[in-house]
This record gives sequence, C-alpha cells and structure tokens, in this order.
Amino acid sequence: MAVGGLSFELQKEEILALIGPNGAGKTTVFNCLSGFLPADEGEIYLEGRQLGGLQPFQICQLGMARTFQIVKPFLTISVLDNVMVGALAREKSTATAKQKSIEIIDFVGLSAWTGKEAQGLPLPLRKRLELARALATQPKILLLDEVMAGLNPTEVDELIALLKEINRRGVSIFLIEHVMRGVMALSRRVIVINYGVKIAEGSPEEVVRDKQVIEAYLGKEFLDAQG
Ligand SMILES: Nc1ncnc2c1ncn2[C@@H]1O[C@H](COP(=O)(O)OP(=O)(O)O)[C@@H](O)[C@H]1O
Ligand SMILES: [Mg+2]
Repeated sequence: MAVGGLSFELQKEEILALIGPNGAGKTTVFNCLSGFLPADEGEIYLEGRQLGGLQPFQICQLGMARTFQIVKPFLTISVLDNVMVGALAREKSTATAKQKSIEIIDFVGLSAWTGKEAQGLPLPLRKRLELARALATQPKILLLDEVMAGLNPTEVDELIALLKEINRRGVSIFLIEHVMRGVMALSRRVIVINYGVKIAEGSPEEVVRDKQVIEAYLGKEFLDAQG
C-alpha cells in the first residue's frame, strides 16, 4: 500500500507542505487528489464537494491544478501554446486564453521563451513552464510536486517570492518539497509522511525538531546545521 489512513485538511489560502523520504508516498497523494490514480478507500473533498470518481480534467475545472515531479511539457510546441492548453481548460475564447497565457508567461519570467519550442528549455525553466501551465487553469488550489528540485539557491529564492505572490493573490498551495529552505520560508503547516503514513504535523519549526521526523527523514545533521 503506497498511502494508508492519511487524513488532513488544506485551509483556504493556506500554504501547506508535504515532506518525507523518497518513496514515502507523496506523489501518490497528489495523484489521488488530482484524479490521476483512484484511491481504493477514503474521501477527498474540495469546498464540500466529493471528488471521488471524477477525471483529472473535471477536478482541474473545479479548481485544483498540479505540476508533475517529472515535468511533462508538450515538447514540440511553443511555450505559449503549452500554457494556452492550460488556459483553454477555463477560457472559451482563444484570444482571451492567449492574452492570459502571455501575462502568466511574463509573471513566471519566461517571456524571452514565449515563441520557442518547449524542448529547448533547460530543466529549471521547464519547471517554471510547468508552473505556468498549472496557473493558466486559474486554480483555487495549486499542487506543486518538487518544483524547487535542481534549482540553484538564487533560483530557489526567486521561486519562493513567486509562490508567495501567487498565494497572496488568493491561491491555496499544497507543496511537496525536499528543499527545506523553501518549506521553512513558505509553509505555515507541514505534514510528514513515511511509508505512506503520517508521522508528524505542525508548524515547520515544530516538525523539524520532532524526533521521528529527524530519524526518518531529516537526519541529525539537519538539526545541527540549524543550530
Ligand atoms: N503506479 C504505481 N504502481 C505501483 N507502485 C507505485 C506506483 N507509483 C509509485 N509506486 C510506489 O509507491 C511508493 C510511493 O511512491 P511515490 O508516491 O512516488 O513516493 P514519493 O513521491 O514520496 O517519493 C513507492 O514505493 C513507489 O515505488
Ligand atoms: Mg515524488
């Protein structure tokens, strides 16, 4: 069983983090929430509405968008067209979808790449494209699966600022992240899972001092480095 008996709430306009070792079941949680994998048991609600049995595109239309840990752009079409695919999930008019996509591409800092094929983007920029595509669907909740992986410290800082701004505009964020600096800077609450089971939940400061979390995931070195 990849994930079992996991229960939690994401508050409106909150930033909640999900952390834990590789293989703990984090991405599986996202797959269940976003409809990519049907959960065998349990219930998922978005603003009181049951999501069980809905397809990913339906869940997206209800306001939950995700990024993929292994980025999945359409390689041979432009950055603009990639983002427009997301925008057209919400907008009927192609002209409006295009306008909104251009704004979002600018917002995530990809303007110079608008007309370029997605396959020309280095990984850090593909991560931004992934974010832009999800944002283009105008989500209420954004699920971010390791968007900081492989970024240098400056790029992490830029992304932290960007995510704070997205949240300030009213989007709730649920993020899976190994980059603890990002987790500490962004989240108000953190859930820690190991072997598909919740082992801790609390403020970032609380969970990083939790004995079980240190043993299962962070390591004593992390705490020593924090002072
Ligand atoms: N489609 C799948 N079928 C079977 N097992 C899977 C599948 N996807 C992931 N797993 C397994 O489920 C566990 C949790 O995986 P995952 O959710 O990707 O972990 P994490 O994102 O925390 O690294 C791992 O043991 C993984 O090998
Ligand atoms: Mg994962």
